[in-house]
Amino acid sequence: MMSMDWMNQTVPQARGLYPYIPGKPIEQLLREKGLTKATKLASNENAYGPSPKAIQAMHDAILEAHRYPDGDAHALKAALADKHQLDAAQILLGNGSNEVLELVIRCFAGLGDEVIYSQHGFIVYALATQASGANRVPVQDTPELGHDLDAMLAAVTKQTKIVCIANPNNPTGTLLSNDALQRFLNALPPHIIIILDEAYDEFVCDIKQDSVQHLHHPGLVISRTFSKAYGLAACRVGYAMANANLLEAVNRFREPFNLNSLAQAAALAALDDLDWVMEKVDLVKQERTRLELALAQQYILAGKSFGNFVLLQHPKALELHQQLENLGLITRPLAAYGLPELLRISVGKHEENNFFLKSLDTILATMNTQS
Ligand SMILES: Cc1ncc(COP(=O)(O)O)c(C=O)c1O
Repeated sequence: MMSMDWMNQTVPQARGLYPYIPGKPIEQLLREKGLTKATKLASNENAYGPSPKAIQAMHDAILEAHRYPDGDAHALKAALADKHQLDAAQILLGNGSNEVLELVIRCFAGLGDEVIYSQHGFIVYALATQASGANRVPVQDTPELGHDLDAMLAAVTKQTKIVCIANPNNPTGTLLSNDALQRFLNALPPHIIIILDEAYDEFVCDIKQDSVQHLHHPGLVISRTFSKAYGLAACRVGYAMANANLLEAVNRFREPFNLNSLAQAAALAALDDLDWVMEKVDLVKQERTRLELALAQQYILAGKSFGNFVLLQHPKALELHQQLENLGLITRPLAAYGLPELLRISVGKHEENNFFLKSLDTILATMNTQS
């Protein structure tokens, strides 16, 4: 049979594209290392899991699994509109906020257009831009690895269609001040779309202004997710809040049933269990402080993180990651982000964090005696 080089048959932008590399699944590490137990601190999930109400709602929804889901996700959209005091037309739901980011970029940026984002911003901005055929414009971070908003403004050209900002940022954990964000929004021309990715908003909602108040800005798209604080990463539910007319355009790119019924039911129930969710957010923040103090004592804490993760800095970060895997612990090395000395560790439950700290001590002690 004739073999084809399918890579040469693709649309041009597919050729420079590479797949997103997620945190390693637990089952994969068990297979690779022949282990029976492993702990994952690699994808900024909520270790406490979904709320009891969300679990019950998914059980109930299984009985209707033979029916197509509500393609418009009417109930969930209404609940979100109510939560944020918006019109339902100002909400767009996605299969994770990842889909929301991709849909917006695909809808507004094509060949010859430019999308600006931080050099160490969330990697999906670069991937989605490349897939859409637009040009990527990464902008250098501040020395603290935060978004350099002035440099981003300076990078705007006639071709700029979208600017992407994660606040807090993943993987660097930095947070913009209210004033800095406000000034940036005011300075950007109104025809430019700003994707303000707030995947970790629940971890900072007590110390920052709610950016929903900026939605009068015509091009502002705020994205949020149920994958982090809400503990529903496997369900894949995210949403955008923006001008209704803007979202009507994006909606044309949406697959008809992009949110399955179990996911819709779980997210709706989780919204009704906010006290439970925020209690777990508080626990995560306490554990984050504990981890940060422990890493700071060893001089390997890299900056303050506002997300549900901490950053460790070590010249042998990749080796640390590999040795942690040998002990059954999955963390996230940031070499793919161009930060080879950094390791990102998601905050787990108390005992998981203890296991990490103990394993780290053991590995560092051996490394130190060897060097
Ligand atoms: C900043 C940021 N945005 C978006 C996402 C996508 O999350 P999801 O598609 O699960 O909503 C993530 C996931 O890690 C993230 O860190």
